[in-house]
Amino acid sequence: MAFACSECGHRSVKWFGRCPSCGAWDAFREEPEEARKTGKTKDRSWLGEELRPITHIDLADVKRLPSGMAEFDRLLGGGLIPGGVILFGGEPGIGKSTLLLQIADSVARNTGNVLYVSGEESEGQVKLRASRLDVDSERLFVLSEQSLQRVVEAIETVSPKVLIIDSIQTVVSDGIDGEAGSVRQLREVSNELTRLTKSKRFTTFLVGHITKDGAFAGPKTVEHLVDVALYLEGSRGEDVRILRSVKNRFGATNEVAVFRMEEAGMREIANPSSFFLEGHREDPRPGSVVMPVLEGSRPILVELQALVSPTGGFGVPQRRCTGLDINRVLLLLAVIEKRMAVHIGAADVYLSVAGGLEARERASDLAAVAAIISSLRDRAIPAGTVVVGEVGLSGEVRAVRRLNERLREAAKMGYDRMIVPGTAAQRLDGVEIVPVGSIEDALSELELG
Ligand code: TYD
Ligand code: MG
Repeated sequence: MAFACSECGHRSVKWFGRCPSCGAWDAFREEPEEARKTGKTKDRSWLGEELRPITHIDLADVKRLPSGMAEFDRLLGGGLIPGGVILFGGEPGIGKSTLLLQIADSVARNTGNVLYVSGEESEGQVKLRASRLDVDSERLFVLSEQSLQRVVEAIETVSPKVLIIDSIQTVVSDGIDGEAGSVRQLREVSNELTRLTKSKRFTTFLVGHITKDGAFAGPKTVEHLVDVALYLEGSRGEDVRILRSVKNRFGATNEVAVFRMEEAGMREIANPSSFFLEGHREDPRPGSVVMPVLEGSRPILVELQALVSPTGGFGVPQRRCTGLDINRVLLLLAVIEKRMAVHIGAADVYLSVAGGLEARERASDLAAVAAIISSLRDRAIPAGTVVVGEVGLSGEVRAVRRLNERLREAAKMGYDRMIVPGTAAQRLDGVEIVPVGSIEDALSELELG
């Protein structure tokens, strides 16, 4: 049995006194069997659009919805696209449900109905998170459900602008064998939801869990189906979160947005450089150096700190680092010992990227060397200086990608002296650019030689 609104044509398996779509009273009629069949075949076509020449397609047709978070909109290329399916991946506990509930609330407040389907948590649990986030909108509907068929019914009832499935691994289609989260189920569920999303032109978020060791199995099998794939990253001890786009049919990929997990939800960081330099004092301390790292295609200034101190007694020297690649640091230590004739073998070395950002690219090499020597000699690097460059095994300083963007970001943040690889001749107004060919050159420019 199926019903349809005689005013707007809205179809539903349930009868309503008032159409949930257009609000007309007493307009629901039972559909004849044939109409249902044809309705069904029509639904099967994905987009339901007509054949037309490309010149007749109007770009203005696509109206993006603001998500309520400017950084999130920027990441997507200008907001949510009606008919778009977004895969939202990340490790458990990283903040996916939190961020999506915040977006859900904003859309519900400003635009229209939102349907939040939770296959993992009870309504009570969702409500608990919602109250913590101060999320409270009449138009935000919550369904704790795992059956695809019932989710589809709820979509018909609510006619959402945004649908959130948390998570795709917990939804099962009755007609298909296999457990929730199996490849067959994932495909079927994603296909069906994608088809509905396109034909009804709302925006869907499919939450997908990935595990710590990078087992993408679930989300990866649906990545090709979706329009956008976003992954939320960060370490649980730290509160910085990076949302990265690895696929985007509506905008640039490899973009990032930076958030911070706070007591009352995720806060977007519009200017990551000033955020990460927050604790960096104007009067420089030994062991501290500022470097421009790339997150995706976005340059961000961060402070790298080193602490080099003699190992007590006959202890084994410690080498620890956060945010850098430990093997890379060991290699750099060997280069320093060889080239600078300094002895670090009997010292503990600690390195840390302040603020919890990862800077595992080779472009951080030269800054790491500078920080280590600065701490070792107990001499500070002058304020206003940034250091960037890859270091080779013989101590040569090598070019890095996107140097220009990095330097412009540094200039924007008020830095006016930049130690850069010698091969790159750059110019920037009001900035002294110092090309160096080796770590010896760099350290003497930094008065650490
Ligand atoms: P959650 O969004 O449930 O993660 P996911 O959906 O990716 O599994 O977030 C879980 C963690 O976030 C949890 O450890 C508590 C913390 N949290 C905050 O710090 N602030 C908040 O406002 C909320 C809702 C959660
Ligand atoms: Mg969750």
